[in-house]
Amino acid sequence: MKNKKLLNYSDYLRLDKILNSQDLMSAKRGSPAHDEMLFIVVHQVYELWFKQILHELESVIVIFKQESVIESDVSFMVLRLNRIIEIQKILIDQIRVLETMTAMDFLEFRDDLFPSSGFQSAQFRLLENKLGLLKKNRMSYGRHDYSSVIKDEEKAHVLKSENERSLFELLESWLERTPFLSFQGFNFWEQYSNAIRSMLEKEEIVIKGNPNYTKKEVEYHLVEHNNAVSAFEAMIDEKKHSKLIENKEKRLSHKATQAALLILLYRDEPILHSPFNLLSKLIDMDELFTSWRQRHALMVRRMIGSKIGTGGSSGHAYLHAAADKHKIFTDLADLSTFFIPRSALPKLPEKIKQNLGYHFKS
Ligand code: HEM
Repeated sequence: MKNKKLLNYSDYLRLDKILNSQDLMSAKRGSPAHDEMLFIVVHQVYELWFKQILHELESVIVIFKQESVIESDVSFMVLRLNRIIEIQKILIDQIRVLETMTAMDFLEFRDDLFPSSGFQSAQFRLLENKLGLLKKNRMSYGRHDYSSVIKDEEKAHVLKSENERSLFELLESWLERTPFLSFQGFNFWEQYSNAIRSMLEKEEIVIKGNPNYTKKEVEYHLVEHNNAVSAFEAMIDEKKHSKLIENKEKRLSHKATQAALLILLYRDEPILHSPFNLLSKLIDMDELFTSWRQRHALMVRRMIGSKIGTGGSSGHAYLHAAADKHKIFTDLADLSTFFIPRSALPKLPEKIKQNLGYHFKS
């Protein structure tokens, strides 16, 4: 006991490693660029936060993989997702720190970075795969597979994640198992469809009768409106929904979409509070990733204009398009198209309310 070495702050945090891991490439060339230190530190901080996000995400995935997810587990997942969300806000804010470096300052060392790029971040790719970004839905990057640029030591881990069940898939099967879907003789969908159809008809009248629209604008809005009508018909008809999935207009299965809508509509039922929070957090998380991508793309435009990236992509144009294409939970956010005021919602019969158990079992 006497000889036991007391734990030291620096040793515990492995500061010897962390604080000696900033190798300025410009210094190696013999011309140290002041801002390269900031560039490295900011990237390292990002990678640490990615590590923490993956740690939280993994714990959510473990819970979701259970056959039966009890109510307290759902609350637990909500807490973990909320932590990710708070970190994401910092990730977005952090870009401002890097932007204190001007485009001219960046040029002092940019050439030293070739051909390394954030595109090679294994943790970022892991995150995308674990959330549910499918290979076939990725933006193409020249003729290369996204994984071809990842370091060999890191690649196996990233490729493995492509074949694991993602958060999206786990959410989908959890929603499909929701017993709330069965209404025991109560024709919810018929009553709800009538309410939605009359809302959509009213919207069509408003578009056609809007004196401020030109003929072209009316046509434009009617196309959008008709998309909403088709999406609603697909909500009712499984075959139509499958067609949307085939055309890559939707991803979430018909059954899971219906369950998600019911959770969002009847969130006032106490049993649905946690599921509602879970869906909301997933939408928040997806939006924040998109915001980070958009914010990063804006910063890139300011730093390098329309030059190509150090990793060889078209730079800003690629990043901007990826921000739009790499969303995961858009199907959940889109459900608000079919929200109607509480007062117009079909009332759930008392028996069904009572039958809403306290857990979701498979
Ligand atoms: C001066 C600052 C920065 C510039 C000019 C820049 C530029 C770029 C460019 C042009 C790309 C596209 C791939 C390529 O051709 O290289 C890219 C991708 C990427 N960058 Fe940055 N970046 C900067 C800062 C950061 C920071 C601080 C991070 C934080 C980790 C980061 C993470 C990423 C990631 C993850 C990708 C891949 C995105 C995707 O494929 O969707 N970048 N960056």
